[in-house]
Amino acid sequence: MRIALFGCGTLGSYIAKRLKAGVSGDCQVVGVLDAPRPEAAEVLAKEIECAVAADIESLLKLSPEVVIEAATRESVWECGEECLKKGASLVVLSSGALLDAAFRSRLVEQAKKAKKKIYVPSGALGGFDVARAAYLGGNLRACLTTRKPPRALAMEKDQGTSAEPTTVFSGNAIDGIELFPKNVNVAASAGLATGGPEGLSLTLMADPSLDSNIHRLELEGEFGKATVEIQARPMPENPKSSALAALSVLALLARISSPLEIGG
Ligand SMILES: NC(=O)c1ccc[n+]([C@@H]2O[C@H](COP(=O)([O-])OP(=O)(O)OC[C@H]3O[C@@H](n4cnc5c(N)ncnc54)[C@H](O)[C@@H]3O)[C@@H](O)[C@H]2O)c1
Repeated sequence: MRIALFGCGTLGSYIAKRLKAGVSGDCQVVGVLDAPRPEAAEVLAKEIECAVAADIESLLKLSPEVVIEAATRESVWECGEECLKKGASLVVLSSGALLDAAFRSRLVEQAKKAKKKIYVPSGALGGFDVARAAYLGGNLRACLTTRKPPRALAMEKDQGTSAEPTTVFSGNAIDGIELFPKNVNVAASAGLATGGPEGLSLTLMADPSLDSNIHRLELEGEFGKATVEIQARPMPENPKSSALAALSVLALLARISSPLEIGG
């Protein structure tokens, strides 16, 4: 499968190098793009031996079958439709971009027209097979609690210096994502998996005792109850992101390029 990548930061670089190592099976990275940091794209392309693109048009001229976004939600708004139009499926890591309902429906329409797919990987959380099934069962109540070391959140908002765990946000997932757009893609993905982020309750905590990001998704509905808790180690290069987010993209690519599919 021919893969292109935009965003050559922490997650993008990790994904590209592991694809090159063959962890997702028959996937070849044909080109990479990093608009704000072209030097990062150059370094990565040299290491994994692929083309560097200066813009999205040049990236799409390499005829990728799948384009991975590992950049920002704004980049999804800018480039998402173009990728689908040019015949590539799209993997969206900055899933907060899909909370804009008008944009999401335009993107879905474009995917239908092009007969391509938009994939939202499970990212730094998981259990989306259960969440989707639970939603179909009806009367679903979904709550996500994310706890992070203060340094992961301090990049977006001043958290002060409390030695105690502090709740920095509690409320509707949509409002939380507006306040912490780089930290709560997990909430966006969980919201999409549970029938809409407006129905997802989100609590975001800064906890100085942690060196991992902890996400706990609690579901209750007609199906019964489920709790998914993930303790995901932050990437040293970027404590806002977890390696699990990159691994989930590698697992997704392995799944869609394989004839054997495991899990819902
Ligand atoms: N879905 C999840 O569970 C999950 C988990 C962690 C991170 N994320 C998201 O994934 C994205 C990547 O995370 P990261 O840790 O690698 O971030 P990062 O800051 O390390 O890297 C992002 C890279 O994208 C580049 N970039 C920005 N705008 C671009 C554009 N328009 N075109 C091309 N490149 C562009 C930047 O220059 C940077 O090199 C972020 O939006 C992050 O919030 C999602």
